[in-house]
Amino acid sequence: METKIFSKDQLDDAVKLLAKGELVAFPTETVYGLGAIATNEKAVKSVYAAKGRPSDNPLIVTVSGEEMMSRYVEKVPERAKKLINQFWPGPLTLLLFVKKGALPKAVTGGLPTAAFRCPDDKLTHDLIAKLGYPIVGPSANTSTKPSPTTAQHVYHDLKGKIAGIIDDGPTKVGLESTIIDLSVKNPVVLRPGKITPDELSKVLGEKVRINSGKVSDKEVPKAPGMKYRHYAPSAPVTVVDHADDFAKIDLNNETGVAALKGELGKIDLPDENKFNLGNNLTDADHNLFSSLRYFDDKANIKHIYVQGFSDGESSLAYMNRLNKAAAGHHLNV
Ligand code: TXA
Ligand code: MG
Repeated sequence: METKIFSKDQLDDAVKLLAKGELVAFPTETVYGLGAIATNEKAVKSVYAAKGRPSDNPLIVTVSGEEMMSRYVEKVPERAKKLINQFWPGPLTLLLFVKKGALPKAVTGGLPTAAFRCPDDKLTHDLIAKLGYPIVGPSANTSTKPSPTTAQHVYHDLKGKIAGIIDDGPTKVGLESTIIDLSVKNPVVLRPGKITPDELSKVLGEKVRINSGKVSDKEVPKAPGMKYRHYAPSAPVTVVDHADDFAKIDLNNETGVAALKGELGKIDLPDENKFNLGNNLTDADHNLFSSLRYFDDKANIKHIYVQGFSDGESSLAYMNRLNKAAAGHHLNV
């Protein structure tokens, strides 16, 4: 299958493909998503095939707003309304009970809940509005690889497997949305993102916990996707918690280093072995997945060292993704 690249002026062509049950990747403010009409079971099933995603890992449902979401849920709880008013459109995904039979089993993985997201991206909004239906929106990468923050990343992973990609340049945030479970008595964050548990607590007026995400293979985790190895390039990744410790690494031409700009100057490696994460944590969020992919494409790089951050809740999402890519491996010095 030829994978067409659409510019943002070619939205109608992308809508036509989606309406026929084809797969089209689309931009959001977090990462690129892989779209298919959420009510078309056959189309949704082909999303799993294209990504190589285990079938017990349900998909996010991307909606144009509360009205569209309300067609599929039992009822919109008060807590959801508060969060929607404050954070939608934006990088927050809500887990809610669905109306029985309203969405195919392939979307929910047979769970009584579904994850709803309304991205802060006008293009995606227009796409869904023109289509008239929600689209599923898992990250548009091959399962286990870093999520895509550019259309080129999507093309790299899924060319020949999907009908199209809408290219609207690099995404703004760079890490996936915060997922909050509102189907339980006490709301809990299942995946940290740019919107922090503190910010959610303030709006809800109640404590929001964060799920540790630690589950054994036998357990059924609350967010099934969190149990798999993730975001991983082929070379092993090690987290460097203190930037000063870069000086203690035995560097050679098989080493790749991703760090803030200020740190890179101190590291004695050729430029192509170094990836600039930017000037601060916001830049690093934006660049983390790109850096892992950059080194993944270099066959000579056998080990990747990436700068860690400990900045309270604002670094939760970055460290969550980096820890998964590193399989929990930190530099011990
Ligand atoms: O920012 C984002 O959320 C991106 C963009 C493209 O919208 N999407 C994204 O989707 O990250 P995905 O599929 O890569 O991650 C969705 C996560 C998975 O860990 C999945 O297990 C969980 O949401 N999830 C989906 N439906 C669920 C449900 N009914 N119950 C529990 N977890 C669910
Ligand atoms: Mg994903």
